[in-house]
Amino acid sequence: MKEGAENQYARMIKEYISEEKIQKTFNQVFDHETILGLHELAEKGMLEKIEHVISTGKEAQVFRAIDVAGNFRAIKIYKTKTATFRQMEQYIQGDMRFEKIKHDPRSLINAWARKEFKNLELIQAAEVRCPHPLGFQKNILIMEFIGDEKGNPALNLKENPITDLELLYDTVTEYVARMVERANLVHADLSEYNILNLHQEAIIIDCGQGVLKSHPEAKTFYERDVQNLANYFTKMGYPKTQEEMLKKIKEKREKQPKR
Ligand SMILES: Nc1ncnc2c1ncn2[C@@H]1O[C@H](COP(=O)(O)OP(=O)(O)OP(=O)(O)O)[C@@H](O)[C@H]1O
Ligand SMILES: [Mg+2]
Repeated sequence: MKEGAENQYARMIKEYISEEKIQKTFNQVFDHETILGLHELAEKGMLEKIEHVISTGKEAQVFRAIDVAGNFRAIKIYKTKTATFRQMEQYIQGDMRFEKIKHDPRSLINAWARKEFKNLELIQAAEVRCPHPLGFQKNILIMEFIGDEKGNPALNLKENPITDLELLYDTVTEYVARMVERANLVHADLSEYNILNLHQEAIIIDCGQGVLKSHPEAKTFYERDVQNLANYFTKMGYPKTQEEMLKKIKEKREKQPKR
């Protein structure tokens, strides 16, 4: 007899998720297409098991996983049942890479995972340290796990500040300049929450809302990013104004290799 669809989904959840707590709540946050997405990643050898939750956000959950070869991976799954699709639209509309997508919630959320993947590719090619993107499937993004050898995830700057603020300032301004000039991209959610500290190295994450420079709101997002960063440095005892920081980034932008 053929296995019923419900049983099949339940079996896959057990197969790809080790923690019982996550198995039980998975269906409350994610739909069946998500389970099929996990299955497809597993078929490709990119996923052996989801182990546990690293973070639960408004729009996504991030898990630690292992692939078939036993490597740690980070898997970010965008919520399909409780997400706020309205906000996402603002960052997709006006992006010429996504002009043709449909605007129903499911298409939007899949486009979002793909967008984060593409943005990470661009950011990495611009020589900005970010998680290496490995793949995407439906609403799922799989990437390099940022953490120590034992599998503890790196904390963000809010939780674990980088101690050399002068060096951090130099790195962050350089990274913003590289993103804008070489990747043509504005991150659009830069702050101490979306920069990880791995053994005192800054790593930029959470790149889904990043927009191309041609996006009508790109300048507003860019200035907001720089304001957030200036606020952070000031709060940490390394006072910087938005103006000062914009000037520094501009100097660095002019030094970027011509494309
Ligand atoms: N590649 C990664 N390796 C290790 N940990 C990660 C990785 N990506 C994300 N994380 C962890 O998950 C947290 C949340 O990730 P991220 O910022 O990308 O999404 P988010 O902020 O939850 O999105 P939302 O806007 O819905 O809150 C990070 O602060 C970090 O602790
Ligand atoms: Mg975040």
